[in-house]
Amino acid sequence: MDPVYQVLTDKLKQLKVSGIVINPWLAVHSSKCFTPHVLEFLRIEADNLAGLILSDAQKMQYFNYLPNPANFPKAALCETFMSTAVFIAHEKTGDLFVDEDIAREAILRVIGYCNTHGISNLLHLYQITTIYDNLNALVYYNGIPEQIFISGDWHRPWAKHFLNDDLKMGVFTGLMEVVDQNGERCVQITPKGTENLQLIRQMLEAAGYFAERMSLQHISQFNRLEEYEKLAEEIFPEFMQLRKRLIDFTGIRAGMKVLELGSGTGLLTFEAGLADRIGLNGKLVCIDPSAKMINRARAKLEAEEKNWVELGVGVAEELPFEDDRFDAVIGCAFLHFTNRETALREMRRVTRSGGIIGSFHPLACAFNSFPFFSEWFARIFELASKRREQPKNFLFGPEECLASFTETGLIKIEHQEPFSPMVFRDPDKVIKHIIHGLGLYQEELANLPWKAREEIMNGLKERGISICRKYSEEERIIYQPVQFIKGIVP
Ligand SMILES: C[S@@+](CC[C@H](N)C(=O)[O-])C[C@H]1O[C@@H](n2cnc3c(N)ncnc32)[C@H](O)[C@@H]1O
Repeated sequence: MDPVYQVLTDKLKQLKVSGIVINPWLAVHSSKCFTPHVLEFLRIEADNLAGLILSDAQKMQYFNYLPNPANFPKAALCETFMSTAVFIAHEKTGDLFVDEDIAREAILRVIGYCNTHGISNLLHLYQITTIYDNLNALVYYNGIPEQIFISGDWHRPWAKHFLNDDLKMGVFTGLMEVVDQNGERCVQITPKGTENLQLIRQMLEAAGYFAERMSLQHISQFNRLEEYEKLAEEIFPEFMQLRKRLIDFTGIRAGMKVLELGSGTGLLTFEAGLADRIGLNGKLVCIDPSAKMINRARAKLEAEEKNWVELGVGVAEELPFEDDRFDAVIGCAFLHFTNRETALREMRRVTRSGGIIGSFHPLACAFNSFPFFSEWFARIFELASKRREQPKNFLFGPEECLASFTETGLIKIEHQEPFSPMVFRDPDKVIKHIIHGLGLYQEELANLPWKAREEIMNGLKERGISICRKYSEEERIIYQPVQFIKGIVP
C-alpha cells in the first residue's frame, strides 16, 4: 500500500482505539437520539472547539485551496460529537438516546483525542469517510440530482447540515462534476473520483472501517430485536433442543466455572438449563455486546435468583478476564459474528489447561439453490453479480471452523454437523431474522448508500409476501447445516 495511505490507515485504527466514531450509521434517526436541547448543546460546543483549536495556520494547511470551507470544521465536529455520543449511549444502555451526561462524555472524548493527535487529524479522517460515502453513492445511483446530493437525503441523512461544501470540495479537487442531464443539474463522479474511491475503499477496508460499521450494525440490530426470542423459535423450531444439546455436547458439569459468550437474552443460560447444570457450587459468567439483550437476561436472573450467574456487556474478541480463569468457555450462535481467530485466541487464553472450548453455530449454506429463496433474495444476488462476486455472508463452512480450532492450538477436537429446519413463514419476521438475527448479506448491505439499503430491506419484505403465496410452506423449509464443535486447551 502507498505509504500515505498506510499512515491514514493507522490513524483510522487509532481513532477506533480512542472510542471516537465518525461512522454515523447509528445516528441516522437522530430525532430518536437527541432532544433539541442536547443537539443545540453539541452544536455550540462544536462551534467553540472549531474556533478555539483550529488555528489559522492549520486552516491554511488543510483548506487553503478550498473556496469556502468555513463551516466544514464545525459540521465535522458536530457530526463526530453526535455519532460518538450515540455510540456511547448504545454501548452503555443498549438504547440510542443521548442524555446530557453522555453528550458531555462524547465531547470530552473528542477533545481528548484532538489534544493528543491534533484536530487536523480528526478532520482529515472525517473528510476521507465522507468522501467515501459521497463517491460511493454517486457510483451506485449513477449520478445524483444536485439538490438531493446537497440535502444528503439519499446517502448521509444523519448530517445536520447541507452538503454544499462537500460538493464544492469534490468539484474543486476534480473528484466530482456537475453536469446537465435532461435539463437537470446532476452530480457525477469523474474518472479521477473513481480512482480515488478505489483507493479509499482499500484503505478503509485495511483499517477495519467496514468491519466496524458491520459490527455496529449487528449490535444495534440485536439491541432493536425486541422479539428476538419469538423470532428465533419460529424460524428455527429446533433451536431450544440444539441449545440443550450444546450443554451435553460440551460436557458441562455441576460445580464448573464457565464463561458463556454472546449470551443474548439468556436462552442458553436459563431456558436451556446451562445455569442449572452448573448449579450453585459453580460459577457462570455471561457476556454479550448488546446492552439491551443483557438487560433482558438480567430480568430473568432477578426473577430466578441464581446468584452463581453474573451478566455483563462485552465482546468475545476482548475478554476482560485474567488468563486460565475458566474451566470452559462456550457460546451458542455467536461465533459467526466475531472475528473468529481473535475470539478463539481469547477464549483459549481465559481457559485453564485441560479446559473446554465449545460452540454451536449455523453453517454456510447454498441458500440460492432453493428456488423460493433465490427468487426472494434476487436483489441481493444481482448486487453481488454486478460486483462480479458471490454474495457474502458471515456464515462459514465446517472445515473453516475446524481449521481455526486447530490453529488456536486446541486438541482432542470433536465436531458434529447435523441439519436443522429453518422455516420461512412470515416475511417480516423472516427478513428480520435472516438479516438481523442470522446476519446474512451484511457485507452486501453495508456497501450500499443509506437510502438504497432501506429500499432493499423494504423491497425484500414486499417480495416475501408474493413468494409466500407462490410457494407452499413445505417448499419454504430449508434444512440448514449447523455445527457443534469443541476442543481442549492443552
Ligand atoms: C443469534 S444471537 C444468540 C443469542 C443466544 N446465545 C441464544 O442462544 O439465543 C447472537 C448473539 O451474539 C452477540 N454478538 C454479536 N457480536 C458479538 C461478539 N463480537 N462477541 C460476542 N457476542 C457477539 C449478539 O449481540 C447476540 O446476542
